[in-house]
Amino acid sequence: MNGAIAVVGIGADGWDGLPENSRRALRTAEVLIGAPRQLALLPGGDCPGERITWPSPLRPAVPGLLAAHQGRAIAVLASGDPSFYGIGRTLAETVGADRLRIHPHPSSVSYACARLGWPLEDTETVSLVARPLAALAAALHPGRRLLVLGEGPETPARVAALLRETGWGGTRIRVLEQLGGPAERLLDATAADWPHERTDALHVLALDCVRDPDALRLGTVPGLPDEAYEHDGQLTKRYVRAATLAALAPAPGELLWDIGGGSGSIGVEWMRAHRSCRAIAVEKSAERAARIARNADALGVPGLRVVTASAPDGLAGLPTPDAVFVGGGLTAPGLLQACWDALPAGGRLVANTVTLESEALLAEGHRRHGGELIRLAVSTAVPVGGFTGWRQAMPVTQWSVTKGSEQA
Ligand SMILES: C[S@@+](CC[C@H](N)C(=O)[O-])C[C@H]1O[C@@H](n2cnc3c(N)ncnc32)[C@H](O)[C@@H]1O
Repeated sequence: MNGAIAVVGIGADGWDGLPENSRRALRTAEVLIGAPRQLALLPGGDCPGERITWPSPLRPAVPGLLAAHQGRAIAVLASGDPSFYGIGRTLAETVGADRLRIHPHPSSVSYACARLGWPLEDTETVSLVARPLAALAAALHPGRRLLVLGEGPETPARVAALLRETGWGGTRIRVLEQLGGPAERLLDATAADWPHERTDALHVLALDCVRDPDALRLGTVPGLPDEAYEHDGQLTKRYVRAATLAALAPAPGELLWDIGGGSGSIGVEWMRAHRSCRAIAVEKSAERAARIARNADALGVPGLRVVTASAPDGLAGLPTPDAVFVGGGLTAPGLLQACWDALPAGGRLVANTVTLESEALLAEGHRRHGGELIRLAVSTAVPVGGFTGWRQAMPVTQWSVTKGSEQA
């Protein structure tokens, strides 16, 4: 396949809203590919190219469809800015960015910020298109302005219900429909009072986040309060968890294996560090594995993958991690070695334990591979009669190490 493919962004204002260079690309195209709704926006006489509707599912069909029209001038229609949650990404990943000539149009979020007077650079966007609603929870902070890309007519009602149920009922929701088009409309109410079961399918939600006074406050850094988690006692407690995440040091795009996931807190906080961070929790108890998934949903990281299996057997076939945390199962034969072997050069291993038996394994690992061996002892002030005294939690031994290139 060769020849540039024009990718033309078009808005709800259709042909009238297109600049001349976008129109020229569409007029001269021999093949016009798009959704039926987008193709219908083009004037028949001015754009004589053959019209083809995207098949569903779209992605696997892209290479074949483009190859079938090799040698002809192709124009692909996109909604708004093709490079923003759009077909531009799919095309760049399938045929290569250098084959594309992208003609941007203002995106729905540019329109939304224009209507609201919000600065785009300070406005976080969460897409719920083909993503679980639970993803919204990680972006909710008091006073924040959020734009949410809705999936369909029921998205605003579902968002309002989630906000009510999770302590954000006072949040103001504005739904901006058909932005830039003749049918543009604004709906405005709080989540607590949201009256619209359905809206236009083409919309952006704008949220002014307001937390209920009695709802739990969750910050952005690791060490969330223990009460943020549903747990059965198998939970890395707050201060040890914060130290563990500091040792794991998540960076954007990285993958963690959280072995002996328990309640899932390490994987959850790894994923909350950046929206591109990924984690796989491996947990042998099915009951706890289900709990990990619930915690991941509640804390806004529904993409956390849970593998119900015993390590090390359950590790076979998992994608290569950037870091491994061992919070359970250290004494399972071959576990530590399997984790070490799975890591690439530069990968990090962090393991915590409270037992002497496992501590001996960590001391041995430290002797062989180096790194840092530390002990974390957290005490909490509690009432003692009419006075106050320290209650000490079991000390946690932590080994953390980075695998060198000579060890890989
Ligand atoms: C102390 S908890 C980990 C706590 C966890 N980091 C958290 O914050 O929720 C240890 C967990 O490891 C699990 N476990 C123990 N041996 C295992 C193995 N070989 N494979 C997978 N999970 C294991 C246990 O079921 C338990 O849930």
